[in-house]
Amino acid sequence: MMYRTNTCGELSITNAGQEVTICGWVQKSRDLGGMTFVDLRDRYGITQLVFNMENNKELCEKARKLGREFVIQAKGKVRERSNKNLKMPTGEIEIEVGELNILNKSELPPFTIEDETDGGEELRMKYRYLDLRRSPVKNNILLRHRVSQEVRKYMDSIGFVEVETPVLIKSTPEGARDFVVPSRMQPGTFYALPQSPQTLKQLLMVAGFDKYFQIVKCFRDEDLRADRQPEFSQIDCEMSFVERKDILDTFEGLAKFLFRQIKGIDFAAPFIQLPYKDAIEYYGSDKPDLRFGMQIVNLTETVKGKDFPAFETSEYIGGICAEKCSEFTRKQLDELTEFVKRPQIGAKGLIYLRYNTDGSLKSSVDKFYSEEDLRKWVDIMHAKPGDLILVMAGVKNKTLTALSELRLEMGNRLGLRTKDKYFPLWVVDFPLLEWDDETNRFYAMHHPFTSPVYEDLALMETDPGKVRADAYDLVINGTEIGGGSIRIHDASVQKLMFKILGFSEEEANEQFGFLLNAFKYGAPPHGGIAFGFDRWVAMFGGQDSIRDFIAFPKNNSGRDVMLDTPAQISSKQLEELHLAHVKK
Ligand code: AMO
Repeated sequence: MMYRTNTCGELSITNAGQEVTICGWVQKSRDLGGMTFVDLRDRYGITQLVFNMENNKELCEKARKLGREFVIQAKGKVRERSNKNLKMPTGEIEIEVGELNILNKSELPPFTIEDETDGGEELRMKYRYLDLRRSPVKNNILLRHRVSQEVRKYMDSIGFVEVETPVLIKSTPEGARDFVVPSRMQPGTFYALPQSPQTLKQLLMVAGFDKYFQIVKCFRDEDLRADRQPEFSQIDCEMSFVERKDILDTFEGLAKFLFRQIKGIDFAAPFIQLPYKDAIEYYGSDKPDLRFGMQIVNLTETVKGKDFPAFETSEYIGGICAEKCSEFTRKQLDELTEFVKRPQIGAKGLIYLRYNTDGSLKSSVDKFYSEEDLRKWVDIMHAKPGDLILVMAGVKNKTLTALSELRLEMGNRLGLRTKDKYFPLWVVDFPLLEWDDETNRFYAMHHPFTSPVYEDLALMETDPGKVRADAYDLVINGTEIGGGSIRIHDASVQKLMFKILGFSEEEANEQFGFLLNAFKYGAPPHGGIAFGFDRWVAMFGGQDSIRDFIAFPKNNSGRDVMLDTPAQISSKQLEELHLAHVKK
């Protein structure tokens, strides 16, 4: 028996008169007097089946008994519909069914499997295989497939080799917590799941595979957000005999190719490169959304000295200018104040200055500042009549972060962050090291194999905090899509780096001996990058959350509610693994 001659998504008026057999799931059925209509769905679309009481009473009665999600096979003739639905690709035809076979019955699904569903998040996740039948989710997975094919096509065309790396490895230093797997054969020891194949791809460079890539699963035990999953995929890449420019050129090529193939957008001009320092100074973030301006302006010098206590005691005062917002109501301003005071942002307050369309000024600090003073604010902010200036004060880093959040909120409110507009840029020259007050030591901002910018090498000994890393991020619309760096391949620089990070030689050898050893046998100059594959696909799909672009994702507490895991294992398994569960 041939199950089907066609899919549910391909028949059109040109097939009218043909005898066909199609299979699929019953989306819904309707009885209209002497006729029964069934919408039959498969991966490709929906086709309307029609059963006629007059022509075949028995068959029609059988059709009436079909429940939602029954799997059926229908044979019949394609005919032009009298009541056409031009919104559907198959909406001009229907199939007059002559034979109906029920291939499998279905229980009533826990939510309606249509584009708009009544199923809540938790329920949809529990029955993810049913959720995946719905077009919006299905289309996300199909988009993911297309993007991965385009990535492979492009990378292959420029000579990159896809190499798989192991999943049971030794801890990698990417800064998050590892997931670990106990070893049965070697009691008391553990594998770690890779946070990324970072060290392995560097070993592949030593091995001579000068252009490597891989679409690869990575695992990080970290707090989850809309754009983070505990297991996610990277487009991981590494190249030898390159400097920063070569890498940026190569992967800007990939980004432009994907934009063209997937979104039909051509970026002719090179992506701008924004130094980290400027990203922080002007946008308060190392992943600025440049779809709109509204840069942060440092007002510290301009506003100090007028006895306004909140400013006098602050290290930094900065503002943004929202165009055409001088008529924001008291209520809107109160909402913004509440927004910046939320614990996640933690600002003390928000000061405003309205530059009214008639040229007059009105601020929340009129008591402390004369009109002449406020004109200075207006000048330095390049405000125009009709604009609204919003100002915050406090510790520099925190205030810049708060201003960044406020800027994004204003961008949202003013409709400046539209999904169909894309602004890719490179953020470059990150600091090499980050000081941690709690542990009183430096940490590598990226990872310990990231090379310093060559000109800053001398500072490594004298002022390590000032050293810039030869590292870069690809940022699109306020999301970090990818990041990478030129690596250290010089043993003496690596030694110095470990010293600054407080690793003794033994410690460095214990953790990274395999890599340091390999580097003794001719490590080529190399560097690379990894892109968050899920993030990129979600962005192409116009969504912030990556969850619906992953076939079987975890929820916010890291659970797979469908598999009901993490779960306990039997005491026998524990025993074999030499593990005991310690109850607190
Ligand atoms: P990094 O840690 O910056 O670099 O990761 C690269 C990219 O992976 C994405 N990403 C994530 N996506 C979803 N969920 C997560 N939990 C998650 N964590 C990271 C981001 C990020 O930009 N080995 C280096 C790369 C290199 O130096 O070549 C690395 O992993 O989009």
